[in-house]
Amino acid sequence: MKLLKLTEPEEYYQFLKADSAESDLEWKELAAHLATGESYFFRDKGQFNLMKNWILPELIERNKSKRTLRIWSAGCSTGEEPYSLAMVIDELLPYRDDWNIFILGIDMNEEAIGKSRRGIYRSWSFRTMEPDLQKRYFHKRKNEWEIDERIRTMVTFYYGNLFNDSYPSNTTDIHDMDLILCRNVFIYFDFSVISVVLEKVVNVLNEGGYLITGHTEIHAQSAGLLRVRCFPESVVYQRGGDVPVETNGRARRRPVVQSLVALPSPVPTHVSGSGAQNTEAPESTRHQPRSEMVHSQTLLTEAEVFFRDGAYGGAMKKLEPLLQDEPQNFQALDLMARACANLGESERAARYCKQALAVNPFAVQPYYLLAHVAEEQGDTEQAKSFLKKALYLSPSFIPAYLDLGALYEREEDSARARKMRATALEFLKAMPPHFTVEPYEELTVGELSLYVQKMLGKGNS
Ligand SMILES: C[S@@+](CC[C@H](N)C(=O)[O-])C[C@H]1O[C@@H](n2cnc3c(N)ncnc32)[C@H](O)[C@@H]1O
Repeated sequence: MKLLKLTEPEEYYQFLKADSAESDLEWKELAAHLATGESYFFRDKGQFNLMKNWILPELIERNKSKRTLRIWSAGCSTGEEPYSLAMVIDELLPYRDDWNIFILGIDMNEEAIGKSRRGIYRSWSFRTMEPDLQKRYFHKRKNEWEIDERIRTMVTFYYGNLFNDSYPSNTTDIHDMDLILCRNVFIYFDFSVISVVLEKVVNVLNEGGYLITGHTEIHAQSAGLLRVRCFPESVVYQRGGDVPVETNGRARRRPVVQSLVALPSPVPTHVSGSGAQNTEAPESTRHQPRSEMVHSQTLLTEAEVFFRDGAYGGAMKKLEPLLQDEPQNFQALDLMARACANLGESERAARYCKQALAVNPFAVQPYYLLAHVAEEQGDTEQAKSFLKKALYLSPSFIPAYLDLGALYEREEDSARARKMRATALEFLKAMPPHFTVEPYEELTVGELSLYVQKMLGKGNS
């Protein structure tokens, strides 16, 4: 308002409302101030490791006959994110002359787009980047670092607004993407805007393509064409509900997931351990009349079916009367906690977890879920503490080791991350390779072991 020499908010509002070129410009100025452009290279090492070790190799393999790869960093800010991807691709495909690799960065902040195109950064942008990589891909200029021309030319930047613009679009090249990163952007949108943007984004994703968001940014949204894929480092989304996946030579149909879940639903059915399967009926329900027990069992089974189909609200409706009659029913409390968590009602989920633990203090599952809730609420210390409790109760509980590994990785504590992953790997190696470990049930134990090996840097040997 000062710059425009306006004194009343109403005047400014009318100026914005006007249908003029000046108003368009002002909107751009204003919008740029409404979101922070915070970004840095390899932000979230876990997700970048996941892309480097699993997602990008899968996409490269899948596209090797047409030799194209199309990637979009939506809400790229000052360019660190798409350039990090370009560096990963340079490592994975050093000889790529016959490949057509397109990496696109879009942001609604014009200044940020200008900065992206220049590709010159201060040391703060490198805060978590390995110094060797920085030296390999940047040239020092006084206090700043300029990105190598080879990497700079791999990325195209455009101004754009994810909500207002229409896409697929040939003008901005937003179409047929194999991988879309839209991280730390949905946090600026309310629920209905997230749905609109999500639908548009998914429309430009190729079959089998991946969408990666910030952790827990889009939970409880309708999945549409997306299915949830759960990796220790991150939950990611893949387009293509019924594309057969080739695994170890056998085709597997992907389950159709109805709703996007932020928190996995880990019933560790294939994981042995003293506490993992401790779901025995508590004392309070053991002496119930048979007809009542049959009724509760029916409700529980129905709730489980709803839950498996991703209809968490339906599951909760079945569990509510059951819990009114049997407030100490461990299985109902446990399932209720998971349903709440998957609907993004984390505090309610935590309450049910605690009630479940009051009934069965040796159960692992509620601790695991509490860890996810704490993580979602940004309380990493609490998350680690719950995971450690889960491991105390069940020392072979693989998901807790993997999650701790991912949390330590995010904290840049590579030594501990390694130790956790190495332990998980030992347990995995002791299991039959065709088994699965929930919540990673789309990977066999053999595939999960390979994944963990890659995270440990042993995968390429
Ligand atoms: C916190 S930065 C995230 C940068 C990068 N994705 C990362 O995670 O490091 C958020 C960016 O989203 C951009 N943004 C917010 N709303 C947008 C919209 N509707 N269209 C395009 N960009 C948007 C902001 O301008 C800002 O640069």
